[in-house]
Amino acid sequence: MKIKKICCIGAGYVGGPTMSVIADKCPDIQVEVVDLNEDRINQWNNEDFENLPIYEPGLAEIVKRCRGKNLHFSSLVREKIKTADIIFISVNTPTKKYGLGAGKASDLKWVERCAREVASYASGHTIVVEKSTLPVRTAEVIKTILQASTDSINSSSGIKTFDVLSNPEFLAEGSAVSDLLFPDRVLIGGENKKAIDALSNIYKKWVPEEKILHTNIWSSELAKLTSNAFLAQRISSINSISAICESTGADVREVSRAIGKDSRIGSKFLDSGPGFGGSCFKKDILNLVYLAKFYGLNEVADFWESVVNINAWHQSRISQLVIKNLFGTLAGKKIVILGFAFKANTNDTRESAAIQICKDLINEGAYLVINDPKVSPHQITNDLGMKQLSKISETESLNMYDGLGSWNYGENLDIEIFNDAYAILVLTEWPQYSSINWKEVAKKMIQPGWIFDSRSILDSEKVKNAELNFWRVGDGS
Ligand code: UDX
Ligand code: ADP
Repeated sequence: MKIKKICCIGAGYVGGPTMSVIADKCPDIQVEVVDLNEDRINQWNNEDFENLPIYEPGLAEIVKRCRGKNLHFSSLVREKIKTADIIFISVNTPTKKYGLGAGKASDLKWVERCAREVASYASGHTIVVEKSTLPVRTAEVIKTILQASTDSINSSSGIKTFDVLSNPEFLAEGSAVSDLLFPDRVLIGGENKKAIDALSNIYKKWVPEEKILHTNIWSSELAKLTSNAFLAQRISSINSISAICESTGADVREVSRAIGKDSRIGSKFLDSGPGFGGSCFKKDILNLVYLAKFYGLNEVADFWESVVNINAWHQSRISQLVIKNLFGTLAGKKIVILGFAFKANTNDTRESAAIQICKDLINEGAYLVINDPKVSPHQITNDLGMKQLSKISETESLNMYDGLGSWNYGENLDIEIFNDAYAILVLTEWPQYSSINWKEVAKKMIQPGWIFDSRSILDSEKVKNAELNFWRVGDGS
């Protein structure tokens, strides 16, 4: 099976970067990325490569090299399905909001729609690849839909056939390009060796063969969920230990360093923070919980659900301690929030700890000034479900003292942003926050001023030397 044309359905955080790297590494393959969202497609086709819809270090350069040559973005979903040898399904699979499995199971309506489009418009033999993270046995759904179409058509013309493979993506946002270029492994689950080889041959252009793993399709789907569940579980574990550190005089950084030296544990993913965010961890664990319950494995379900519960508890622990240290009331108090993205080097805010923490503080009557180098005020408005103040009028400032919280976008990280702040809370580990001049900041703040560092990126000595009160996660010393 020689692959000449790829179609990727979904131009999001997974589809966009993955297809860009494939196009860059396989100049002999035409890569068509399609999406129903025309705005998103227009952004991918933006003249200004700095304004692509997704910010990832190194991505703009790749798109610049390939776009218009063998990488194309369009809304021509049906046309591109028709001519593709291989179709990647990279659409969103958020947690269901209503109906059976609401709050836990993945909503597969977008995947089902894709499968139906592929069933109707594909021609000849097509390999269909699940790229999105999906519940175990989703391939069965896709196969059933595709099979139904071939049964009806092939009985007359005999021209349409499909193979379904699972090829989950393990890239992390913020390091997507380097994760794609140097993956720990590429996982391909499926039955038909020819189809598996055809997909492997694409990756072999830049990934060493021993890193390309072949499994059965269900193991591949489950391995993706398990991988995210294990990573999230490590973060909940270390965050739970951070609370013990704060109570006992231990320091979570020292604990992490000590346990990370054990080669069986390893040193990665042991940074205590404000709680994990991102579109995958919570969704995938809840999926696992749903799966376990479905099979009557209630203890297994409870075990994994506790990882998500600890995460929510840890986020509320941070808002509570800000409130407690500011004498139990935030009414009318200005707090500067440094960082809103769920981690540095991305503009993504999905499930960001900042959302719940900011909502908690606003509920307590705080006036937040939120800075993030990549997240737009429009996105923050959507996430908080609340418009920002245009200018604080007298009535509004009186309202603030009545305990009605509010927020404003702090576009520039200049010294004025800290004027009259009671506290500063670091929520994302953007490097620019660690070079702030705390002595200058202290002069602008209302005393006693508080600095809360949920990411452990600030120099504690410099903050303390500026006569500011300092809290950082997991520091009981
Ligand atoms: C994750 C997986 O890493 C990736 O393999 C998968 O394909 C998608 O889900 P992502 O959500 O992009 O990637 O980011 P990741 O780097 O895993 O971080 C997730 C969250 O955990 C972030 O909020 C991050 O700040 C937090 N985190 C990570 C910590 O709090 N401490 C750590 O040590 C590592
Ligand atoms: P991910 O993080 O998994 O990449 P995103 O939400 O960033 O998820 O991207 C998924 C994309 O898939 C969205 O841009 C959405 O418009 C697109 N999409 C969803 N369903 C379809 C469909 N049936 N056809 C084409 N595009 C779709």
